[in-house]
Amino acid sequence: MVEIIPNWHPILVHFTIALLTIAALLFLIPAFAGRNHSLHGIETTANWNLWLGAALTMLTVVAGFQAAGSVAHDDAAHLAMDNHKLWALGTATLFVVLALWNTWRVHRGQAIGLGFAAVMLLGLAGLTATGLRGADLVYRHGLGVMALPQAADGGHDHESGAEHSHAEADASDGGHAPAATAPPDPIPESALSPAEAEVVAVLTGYHAALTAGDAAAPEAFVLADERFVMIEGKHLNQGWADYRDNHLKGELADLARVRFRLSILGIQVDKDLATVSFIFNVLPRSGPEMDFGSGRASASLVRTGNGWKLQQLHTS
Ligand code: HEM
Repeated sequence: MVEIIPNWHPILVHFTIALLTIAALLFLIPAFAGRNHSLHGIETTANWNLWLGAALTMLTVVAGFQAAGSVAHDDAAHLAMDNHKLWALGTATLFVVLALWNTWRVHRGQAIGLGFAAVMLLGLAGLTATGLRGADLVYRHGLGVMALPQAADGGHDHESGAEHSHAEADASDGGHAPAATAPPDPIPESALSPAEAEVVAVLTGYHAALTAGDAAAPEAFVLADERFVMIEGKHLNQGWADYRDNHLKGELADLARVRFRLSILGIQVDKDLATVSFIFNVLPRSGPEMDFGSGRASASLVRTGNGWKLQQLHTS
């Protein structure tokens, strides 16, 4: 599957929507104009749009179930998904019945009646409702989306390297306002002391392990007990098990599609305690070097008999 496409469903929906919409609209012409030799081509086109549309809709439904079982979602999205599914199943059933009805009609050489056209329009209304609910899943609930713009709390890098915040922008400058302060330049790897390099290696290893698709992988880099604290925006997980089971597991599939790049802004190692502030960028695992998002973070690590371990991570 292409990296940025979560599953086949978003591809197939377009065939369902386009073919069945065209079919419904084309059937209206002979339905109202009556049997007319010059409209024969329109009727044939409508027939094939309906038959192909109904066949592909079965694939769309199968892909929909596969999508629903694989994309990360919260309770609100789950309810919205159930609603979308009900509309989809009702609509798909109606179009399959219409396709069979149409086959029977063609075999018997019957003209397109107003009743048939009316049921096609009903199907079109169901299709519109289903499609809007599907779009709601993506654009409101963010299902299948790899990253959302950090407009509320961040800003993003333009080619000049200057940070600016869209959240702070006003209309007077065309929507672009400079952020209050630009972040300091990242510390180059060569400037790190051996102890600092060890700490950064653990932090980098932890972020790489997050993308391994296995909740056990990052465990080697953390204090995997109650001392672990994760604060992500307004969410707080206390203890590694809480974070792993109630947070990380739901994001594993999405994380497996990306990689992190860390830019260290500040680091302090004091005996057995290290603190690091950094920016992380989320990039596609492979393919073009595009930025899916970024965040600011600070981390505390403690030195154990088994090397440095991440004790606290705060991201925003
Ligand atoms: C007539 C059949 C269906 C139609 C026309 C339809 C339409 C759509 C549309 C238009 C989207 C938004 C896609 C986008 O903006 O990229 C969508 C998303 C979605 N639909 Fe459906 N859908 C159908 C059946 C189903 C079924 C049966 C399910 C199972 C629960 C389902 C689950 C989903 C999910 C989870 C998404 C979120 C995006 C993704 O991960 O693919 N859909 N659908």
